[in-house]
Amino acid sequence: MTMPCNCCEITDNAFSEAEARSEMRNYRKRGPAAQTKLLLNVIRSLNLKNADLLDIGGGIGVIHHELLEDTVKETTHVDASSAYLKHAREEAARRGHAERVKFIHADFTDVAPELSKADIVTLDRVVCCYPDFRRLLKAAAEHSRRVVALTYPRETWYLRFFFKITDFFQKLRRDPFRVFLHPVAEMDSLLKSEGFERVSLRRLFVWEMALYQRM
Ligand SMILES: C[S@@+](CC[C@H](N)C(=O)[O-])C[C@H]1O[C@@H](n2cnc3c(N)ncnc32)[C@H](O)[C@@H]1O
Repeated sequence: MTMPCNCCEITDNAFSEAEARSEMRNYRKRGPAAQTKLLLNVIRSLNLKNADLLDIGGGIGVIHHELLEDTVKETTHVDASSAYLKHAREEAARRGHAERVKFIHADFTDVAPELSKADIVTLDRVVCCYPDFRRLLKAAAEHSRRVVALTYPRETWYLRFFFKITDFFQKLRRDPFRVFLHPVAEMDSLLKSEGFERVSLRRLFVWEMALYQRM
């Protein structure tokens, strides 16, 4: 299913074929990245059986490649980058998961009204690529029956500085793609107002991982 949008065009430049190829090479060599491992471990610790997964901005599909082995029965993967989706699809086929993953090329917030709910909704390093985190997280929460798990950059002085510099160079290059350091307390209260409570929080140097369960 393909529904390209303005966001997808911007995202295709930022998350290009070359980036996707290099991420897939790293994944095959080293396995999931550290923040993704945190997210996978905490989801596995819940011992959910026969769950389904909605992976928003799943990139090359690491979360479903891993969880389809032992935790989830099927997945919907929505991504704004066609290059990332292509690599995710090829890897799913290589692992024999093709029949269990539905791939959608779109901005999730555009297609959300047409999508079904899932037990687990994941956003691994996605909110920081999207300007309107409230719209994205609200739609994500509305699509989760049980769990929302996400990773995002920490609100630290060194990341504020890094994001300012990145923003400056993106403007200089006239590249419309931006990264965002969204306020963690506001993301947390939005998810709480949607009926979730935070049951796990882990920190790395750059990334924070939070898992929310529906109360
Ligand atoms: C930094 S990458 C992370 C990919 C993957 N989750 C990971 O951690 O390796 C961000 C991904 O989110 C996607 N993305 C960002 N905003 C999106 C949106 N609103 N709808 C769908 N995909 C989105 C991008 O296309 C990109 O693949």
